[in-house]
Amino acid sequence: MMPGIPLQERGEKAAAAAASAPRRGRGGAVSIALSGVSKRFDDIVALEPVDLTIKGGSFLAIVGPSGCGKSTLLRIIAGLIAPSSGALTLPGHAVGAFVFQEAALLPWRNVQANAELVMELENIPKAERVKRARHALAQVGLEGFERRYPHQLSGGMKMRLSLARAMALRPDFLLLDEPLAAVDELTRDQLQDELLALCRSSGVTAVLVTHNVYEAVYLADQVVVMSARPGRVIDRFDVPFGDDRAPELRSSPEFVSLAAAVSASLRKGRVDD
Ligand SMILES: Nc1ncnc2c1ncn2[C@@H]1O[C@H](COP(=O)(O)OP(=O)(O)O)[C@@H](O)[C@H]1O
Ligand SMILES: [Mg+2]
Repeated sequence: MMPGIPLQERGEKAAAAAASAPRRGRGGAVSIALSGVSKRFDDIVALEPVDLTIKGGSFLAIVGPSGCGKSTLLRIIAGLIAPSSGALTLPGHAVGAFVFQEAALLPWRNVQANAELVMELENIPKAERVKRARHALAQVGLEGFERRYPHQLSGGMKMRLSLARAMALRPDFLLLDEPLAAVDELTRDQLQDELLALCRSSGVTAVLVTHNVYEAVYLADQVVVMSARPGRVIDRFDVPFGDDRAPELRSSPEFVSLAAAVSASLRKGRVDD
């Protein structure tokens, strides 16, 4: 693929493509609507028609078994692949950013340069890139680590950097594909609080795919449960905990009972079909 492009540049292009959904301009809190959106890959039905509305500035979590089409759904929202049927409604100016489980950092770039990467490919001027990257790094607690390299960072720090790189783009919507699946539990809890704070303070519209029911309920305003292949939405839960959430919430009876209901729905989706 892409013969003739030096390895380093090719790596940067691939990483940037992975980290950023197509740029569409700037705007305010952006709502996303999917109406009858489905996806087939040849003879495989990856996604049965899905209807979803994600209110501007809200947080949606999607849980479902492996292979049920969660990543496919995110890629459709990002505009990286086209749905086989249905419509995605998103303002034309909306800017999206993607964060994956693998932080997709470039090992030859330091923390600051990694944080600037996506902005570079968007042709944001150097001074602005430096300023935004510094701010985003400070927001995720990486101030003072700008000159370190990825191999010098813990798993949690790599994920913070990946988040900072996405937020530095000032996206209208953030697509998170199991971003915290590979970090240890303590770090994950902490990162959830940081992610929540970032989302609330920026007003970004967030869509998170996760295997972790507790993570979904802790972070989201709405949790959608998908069934095993062919993927479809089998349940939706409104999460009534508001904007200010603290770790104690995790042990409250309301939280525990909502998480149990989501888990039960997830189990049902696994054994059906
Ligand atoms: N580019 C592709 N070509 C063919 N099949 C694909 C492609 N992407 C995903 N699939 C298939 O679509 C289904 C859903 O995949 P995916 O969205 O990655 O699931 P999930 O993220 O829920 O694990 C799987 O059966 C997968 O093999
Ligand atoms: Mg996936």
